[in-house]
Amino acid sequence: MIILIGNQKGGAGKSTFTMLLANYLAIYRHCKVTVIDMDYQQSISQKYQRAKLLENAEPYEVIAAGLEDYAGLLKVLNDNPEDLVLIDLPGKLDDDGLIPVFQSADLVFCPFSYDEFSFESTVLFSVVLNKINPEVQVTFIPNRIKANVRYETQQEVDQQLSNFGMVTMAIPDRIDFQRVNTFRTPESLIPVLQPVLDQLFVNHLAFLLEDFGAGEFNEY
Ligand SMILES: Nc1ncnc2c1ncn2[C@@H]1O[C@H](COP(=O)(O)OP(=O)(O)OP(=O)(O)O)[C@@H](O)[C@H]1O
Ligand SMILES: [Mg+2]
Repeated sequence: MIILIGNQKGGAGKSTFTMLLANYLAIYRHCKVTVIDMDYQQSISQKYQRAKLLENAEPYEVIAAGLEDYAGLLKVLNDNPEDLVLIDLPGKLDDDGLIPVFQSADLVFCPFSYDEFSFESTVLFSVVLNKINPEVQVTFIPNRIKANVRYETQQEVDQQLSNFGMVTMAIPDRIDFQRVNTFRTPESLIPVLQPVLDQLFVNHLAFLLEDFGAGEFNEY
């Protein structure tokens, strides 16, 4: 199963959310996960290499790949259709190399924030995705929500995005998100993440419950 994490907006939280979801699925839900890092900065791969140096047992593999590598990669991925493949996309839309990636997707998760600029990029991403793969379900995850800020546009944004797909509960803005890596999610974040990740899991991946059961640990 191929899950894209994308948004045209840079800094929306794609790479961070990819690691959070991978940690949750691999460590907490005991799923077989592979992460494909297509971000130009390769931030996940760098963290993964560092984690390996520290001799941590890796809960999943991270493969760094460019868009041009995707056709070859897809052949390998198709050999293991039961694996959960999470793809961290680059923050852009102007590359035809994205077309086969969008076409192959079973699910798309799109982190965004409620500022106007982010909203436009989020809608543009959704329109392009829908043109290339009209079947795929996209889910929007509000990210970096500040507790003391009232977002004037929140209701309007949620309503517009709901034309494309579901909007989940929000992930707050917390400094600890900078400490997320490929083998662990900081414990302090689990109470705010669990409801969002459980919601995504139940809505989209519930069929896995029969195979894997609920997680035994409160940490991931
Ligand atoms: N909920 C959050 N609270 C606080 N900081 C966050 C949160 N989510 C992400 N960040 C931080 O925001 C920055 C950008 O996040 P990230 O790199 O995940 O975005 P991205 O969408 O992958 O960016 P790019 O488009 O450049 O690949 C990082 O420093 C990350 O630690
Ligand atoms: Mg990124």
